Amino acid sequence: MTTLKHYLQFTDLTADEYAYLFERAALIKKKFKAYEKHHPLVDRTLAMIFEKASTRTRVSFEAGMYQLGGSVVHLTTGDSQLGRAEPIEDSAKVISRMTDLVMIRTYEQSKIERFAANSRVPVINGLTNEYHPCQILADIFTFIEHRGPKDGTGNLTDCLKGKTVAWVGDGNNMANTWLQAASLLGFKVHVSTPRGYEVDEKLAAGAHGISAGSYQFFSNPMEACQGADLVTTDVWTSMGYEAENEARKKAFADWCVDTEMMAAAQPDALFMHCLPAHRGEEVEADVIDGPQSVVWDEAENRMHVQKALMEYLLLGKLA
Ligand code: CP
Ligand code: NVA
Repeated sequence: MTTLKHYLQFTDLTADEYAYLFERAALIKKKFKAYEKHHPLVDRTLAMIFEKASTRTRVSFEAGMYQLGGSVVHLTTGDSQLGRAEPIEDSAKVISRMTDLVMIRTYEQSKIERFAANSRVPVINGLTNEYHPCQILADIFTFIEHRGPKDGTGNLTDCLKGKTVAWVGDGNNMANTWLQAASLLGFKVHVSTPRGYEVDEKLAAGAHGISAGSYQFFSNPMEACQGADLVTTDVWTSMGYEAENEARKKAFADWCVDTEMMAAAQPDALFMHCLPAHRGEEVEADVIDGPQSVVWDEAENRMHVQKALMEYLLLGKLA
């Protein structure tokens, strides 16, 4: 029996645990590519609860769980009692008696925390207004694949040490999670957001705190990109904020990642976007569809890292 561990924020795991997870994800991906069976979760069930839309999170968790030998139950607000005001605490008690693992995509972080506090099984954050840890897990794994040791040996997270990630855009769930990852894994984030859409440092610090030296704010997005090893952005309007769409379009007009910003970064800088993307808004087509973009690897890697995560939360470290 492993001790009950939830994955609600990026800082819920340690740097050592991440080093293990990335190694494991590489192995799991290799086996997948070789059509080799990897079934550690036979007879285990994942409940997926979606209160917001999804393509990647749904497909990666569902396909991933089947590939691990388990099965999934898919619930949404509209087709379950969650949408008819059953208390979260009651839902958590019931769902976690029948399944082995729960993934939730919802609005406030406090909702997933209440669920986890009443769950008998591990709970994974599949995106909240505040954080998106599974996405950053995939993004960092993707960085390691492109810029890490070619023979895949040693501590895979070492290649991140001293590197700079430029965040251009909204101070949202993705930005908060990048700050957590930087503090834990020893890299720096240059953040540039329009005025009024800044990162909330208290939120980014989250439950376990982050180091102030691991991030820096820039009012000019070009300056944030200067010398960066990775440039990344996200939609101007996250799910749940649609009423602000028009105001955001005006405020974010200068925060479109273009070829000029990429030219300010390192010559071999990568471009990432968690997707879905809006070409001509937060990123130019020439950048997202250009040679420095690794967005399709990033999307695929959601599945491989989450398989490693699900296995770890249920079975612990395996030899
Ligand atoms: N990046 C991401 O989480 O995508 P979905 O909203 O499609 O799940
Ligand atoms: N920040 C975006 C990410 C989508 C995957 C949102 O929350 O809608």
